[in-house]
Amino acid sequence: MRSTTIAGNWKMHKTQAETKAFLQEFAPRWQPQGGVEVVLCAPFTALAMLSGAIAATGLPVAVGAQNVHWAEVGAFTGEIAPGMLVELGTKYVVVGHSERRQFFGETDETVNQRVRAAQAHGLTPILCVGETKALREQGQVESWIFGQLDRALADVATLPVIAYEPIWAIGTGDTCAPAEANRVLAAIRNHLGDRGGDTTLLYGGSVKGSNIAEILAQAEVDGVLVGGASLDPQEFAQIANAARPGK
Ligand code: PGA
Repeated sequence: MRSTTIAGNWKMHKTQAETKAFLQEFAPRWQPQGGVEVVLCAPFTALAMLSGAIAATGLPVAVGAQNVHWAEVGAFTGEIAPGMLVELGTKYVVVGHSERRQFFGETDETVNQRVRAAQAHGLTPILCVGETKALREQGQVESWIFGQLDRALADVATLPVIAYEPIWAIGTGDTCAPAEANRVLAAIRNHLGDRGGDTTLLYGGSVKGSNIAEILAQAEVDGVLVGGASLDPQEFAQIANAARPGK
């Protein structure tokens, strides 16, 4: 059985005070379920607050970060080492988000290094892949994504969680039709071969309370990576409550 994962990606949102307020609103609305992993990928500055609050309240949320460097320590101004994340109780880390690729020069090769370093420290990467509108119009969805996967997963023994996030659907309200997301996830699973069967595959891109049921109903969707709608504790609780244990 594959595990179900509902991950919120807060991006560059929420101070420590806002994180605390989110948890206070979220906790009474969320009904945790065995077999459904709920993750909050917060800014680095909120990770300690998140971990501390979870430890104090027993809320079964997993802590995630949004980037990780591959070196143990060193002269890499502005980056965060994997051990630093582990120390803060981090379990997951988003790697290769399209915003990192688009705005910060992330390449498949650096994504690969980050995935491997994260895993070496016991972190579970959430590896993001996805095509632009132009690539989709040129009929290159599969070839593009398979290329991203092959390069990002070079020398990776254990597959990470993989999130399919069509770039044109991120933050646009232009959700990929659930059946189309399912089709691409099936192609990804097939491309991963023997290892694909057990891998947790997520969909991301304009997931909301109003479309979560239809998205999660798709056979290949093991969960979602939620941006904007994860900022609202009521809506994120609604999304988390819609999930059911693994397929
Ligand atoms: P969105 O973002 O839900 O706001 O579209 C998704 C993501 O970027 O992970």
